[in-house]
Amino acid sequence: MSNKTIPDTQIKQQYEYIKKVSALNENRASKYFIKTFGCQQNEADSEKLAGIAEKMGYTKADIPDVADLILVNTCAIREHAELKALSVIGQYKHIKIENPELVLVVCGCMVTQEHRINDIKFKYPYVDFTFGTSSIHRFPELLYNQLMQGKRYFCPEESEYLVAEGFPTARESTYRAWVSIMYGCNNFCSYCIVPYVRGRERSREPEAVINEVKSLVENGYKDITLLGQNVNSYGKDSNFDCDFADLLQRVARIDGDFTLRFMTSHPKDATKKLVDVMASESKIAKHFHLPLQSGSDSILLKMNRHYNLAQYLDTANYLKEKIQDITITSDIIVGFPGETDEDFEDTIKALQTVEFDMLYSFIYSPRIGTPAAEMENQVTQENKNKRFNRLLEMQNVISLSRNQGLEGSVVRVLCDGESKSNAELLSGRTDGNKIVFFEGDKNLKGKFVNMEIKRAETFALYGSLK
Ligand code: SAH
Ligand code: SF4
Ligand code: F3S
Repeated sequence: MSNKTIPDTQIKQQYEYIKKVSALNENRASKYFIKTFGCQQNEADSEKLAGIAEKMGYTKADIPDVADLILVNTCAIREHAELKALSVIGQYKHIKIENPELVLVVCGCMVTQEHRINDIKFKYPYVDFTFGTSSIHRFPELLYNQLMQGKRYFCPEESEYLVAEGFPTARESTYRAWVSIMYGCNNFCSYCIVPYVRGRERSREPEAVINEVKSLVENGYKDITLLGQNVNSYGKDSNFDCDFADLLQRVARIDGDFTLRFMTSHPKDATKKLVDVMASESKIAKHFHLPLQSGSDSILLKMNRHYNLAQYLDTANYLKEKIQDITITSDIIVGFPGETDEDFEDTIKALQTVEFDMLYSFIYSPRIGTPAAEMENQVTQENKNKRFNRLLEMQNVISLSRNQGLEGSVVRVLCDGESKSNAELLSGRTDGNKIVFFEGDKNLKGKFVNMEIKRAETFALYGSLK
């Protein structure tokens, strides 16, 4: 076993607590509710917490108001994410007043920061306990202590962030699944809080990942995403003799009909070997999410990204050359400290050069404790907003044109069931993760279907079953 894995003895101890909480829940119809903010990593963590809660005798509540146990799994990536979480915690106060027996827990990235733990301690006195991302495996123990003693507790972070194996997972979907392959981040991009709230990189053993995917496929899962903050660093912290491209290939060769995805790739570590594996393995989705962040070399340097635009374009061009119909998506931050109009124009030009299918755009948000928050020349809100709107306008034109390129083609789509916006239609996702609306039978949910694309819009495609 890797020395990054939590020893079995500690996991067994937690199973003892699971038994003890189950005993308390015997003859009681206790319910849990989890509200999740943030990225897929957090969603994956919440599914693990849900699995543990179910093992402790709780069943899932559809709304927080009827729950005996509520967890708010928080995100700290931008101020907005934190304010949303705090507002939801505020809304749960009335549930606690009506049901003083309720255990209200705040966990995740936001409460891995001292100043936010203090906010909870002093401004949200009805929160029972908090724990950060290094202590997820101690959830049974923390809950048991709370149920027995009723004392508020703010769990300090573990001295080392490790990998927990052996806990159950209660997944939201029966056909799409997240599989974490590594945790943490070592990159310290100057704007980003993740390395501070998720600890150093640590990888799961290849066999653990492969066994999890095998069992998912056996259980009918059709769309599997390997997760990590920078999947290309997979294995660098251990002696696995299996880098990310190797792992991806091994997973792609598991028997069964499924689509394999991964995120996120850091451009500085995206190798040709990885692209070659993608090109040669048919189960790997032809989709590459490659966050550019900025098209200006001087901003990329200040962001501590360790690549320049030319290097990024090299990778993007290699992808396009090797994989026909590749979908490339990206993340952009506007308004990083010191970003001038010229820097921003470089970003706009980069968008036009690469022609991303889709973009996740963010307004820079200073994060306490990161170098960028201390930098001079913070961009005014007005300029940030102006640039953000211009970026969206430009990307919308590109997305529409990329989507129109698919009109008339036949694509495979995984059906998600009824569309949320139009109950007459079904919705699904292409290999490139684009949303497609079409008419069909509700029973197609969770199945692959072939579809001719009839019409394209900026954010969606419309198709008919073939
Ligand atoms: N590990 C992934 C992404 C993690 S966060 C990666 O490196 O790509 C997702 C995105 O949030 C980042 O790509 C970045 O575009 C954005 N982001 C991170 N910190 C931010 C901040 N302080 N303000 C605005 N956007 C931020
Ligand atoms: Fe944040 Fe950079 Fe790590 Fe991504 S690679 S999580 S942006 S520090
Ligand atoms: Fe947010 Fe933590 Fe993910 S800060 S983006 S939930 S790693």
